[in-house]
Parts: sequence; C-alpha cells; structure tokens
Amino acid sequence: MNTFRLFPQRAATLADDVDALYFFLCAVTAFFTVLIFVLIVYFALKYNRRRGIKPQNVHTSYLLEAVWTAIPFALVMIMFGWGARVYVRSQTAPRGAMEIHVVAKQWMWKTQQPTGQREINGLHVPVNTPVKLVMASQDVIHSFYVPAFRIKRDVVPGRYNTMWFSATTPGEYHLFCAEYCGSHHSAMIGQVVVMEAGDYAQWLAGVPADEPPVRAGEKLFARFSCNTCHGQRAPTLAGLYGRNVLLDNGQTITADDEYVRESILDPRAKMVAGYAPLMPTYQGQMTEEQLLDLMAYIKSLKSAATQPAS
Ligand code: CUA
Repeated sequence: MNTFRLFPQRAATLADDVDALYFFLCAVTAFFTVLIFVLIVYFALKYNRRRGIKPQNVHTSYLLEAVWTAIPFALVMIMFGWGARVYVRSQTAPRGAMEIHVVAKQWMWKTQQPTGQREINGLHVPVNTPVKLVMASQDVIHSFYVPAFRIKRDVVPGRYNTMWFSATTPGEYHLFCAEYCGSHHSAMIGQVVVMEAGDYAQWLAGVPADEPPVRAGEKLFARFSCNTCHGQRAPTLAGLYGRNVLLDNGQTITADDEYVRESILDPRAKMVAGYAPLMPTYQGQMTEEQLLDLMAYIKSLKSAATQPAS
C-alpha cells in the first residue's frame, strides 16, 4: 500500500491544468453539499414538532431569487469557460510537435518513432518535447490512457485519433487501454518512458530501427504507382498538407490526415474540382502501418512553388 496514491503522478504540462480544474469542481461540489446538509440538519432541529415552533409564511423576495440564480449561473459559466480552455489546449498540438504513430490491435499497442524504431507496449519519448500521437486501430475501439499525463483518447477503427503531450519529468509511467476491447483488454497495458534528451538519443541509437515512416511511405508510393497519376492527371500532392482544397461540389476543405486517409481508401468521397474520378480504392490493400507511412511521406512533400494550388 505504500505505493498507493490518491492522485496519479503529474508528469506532463497538461496535468496541472486538468488537476486545477478538477479541484475547483470538487471544491464547489463539496461546499454546496456541506451547505445543504448543514441546512437540512439545522431546519430539522429548529422546526422539530416537539419544540412547537411553526414556520412563518414567506413572501417572495425578488432580490433573493436573483442572487441565488446569479451565483450558480456565474459558477457554471466559470466551469464552462475554464473547461473549454483546458479542452482546447489538450486538443491542439503545438506546431512542429514530434509525430509518433500508434497502431492499436487486440491486444497490444504498437508504436513507431519518426526515425523508424518500433516498440510494442512501450513508448520512449524525450522530456520537455511536445509529442503528437497519430493513432489508428486495426480492429475494435481501444483507448490510449496515460494517467500521469492526464490524457486519454479513444482509438476508433477507420479513422485517425490524435492526442499530444509534453512530459515534464523523466521516469516510467503506466499506459492503459481504457476501453473494453475483448478478453485480454486488461492485459493491454504498457509503459511510457520519459528520458532526458541525451538518454533518448542514446536509446534511439541502440535500438535497431526499421525504415523511418517517410522512407517506407516513399517506397509504397512507388510500389502502388501513385506517381504515375499524381502531378499529371491527378492533383499534385506536393505541399498538400494544411492547404485548402476546392472540391467539385464547390466546398473547400483543409487537407489533413483524415482527408488523405479517406482519399486513399475512398477516392470518390471528396473529389478535387477539375479532375476525373480515375483513382482506384485502396481499401483492404494496406495495413494501418502502411497507411501511416504513406501519409508521413505525403506530409513530407513540401510545396513546389510552381504547382497549381488545386
Ligand atoms: Cu484495447 Cu481495451
């Protein structure tokens, strides 16, 4: 029991924000709970039948009504505003965050560093560095949960779920699956290891690396002959990420992971204006890992200034 803690360690930048909000909610709740119980007991004793004190008729006091409407309203607006701020912060990864790919399956977490090193049920990250997780599931819904970082996000099959953190303290932290996903759900656990920059570099050097996602993606791009159309009969992919894309239905969307994923698996879902629907679907032909590799490659294609913007 000496390792028992009421609260998990705080080891990421978001943890303080989340806890502060949580303590505020607890304090407000505790205050009103105590207030109500004290008043119940007080009135029960005061108007005890045997003491014979009868309550008097009460006339509406508009001032009182206004006060006890305004105070709870102000409190819940504070909760809403504060909560929204923490939520937005937790959902918005800083630009240039290090991107790590996570693939969940029954029953393990597979992670890959931008430099190619793969781990199972483990994730090594440098301290004080924003890390963005791009997560996919190859079977059912899982949920990536690191209590010490106060982050948890469902990993839903058929789409990407992202999450970010910046660890503040070197150490080893629990990783859990927080969504029931089958008979070995409880064994779908792992460890996040936060290291000083030097130790992390050493660790990277000591682990045999697979091909980095960008390079693996480049090979896939050639293997699936994507380059025979893209840039000619199909839109160029250079500088695509983050750019606005005009679709044939007049809608404009911003190209992101989700859009690229959909366009590979279901090319006709969102057609770029001015192009014929030539692209075949790659649904069922690529693993989640390959899709992530391909995306990393497409993301790495920086804009060539001469390319048209469509
Ligand atoms: Cu994966 Cu529970």
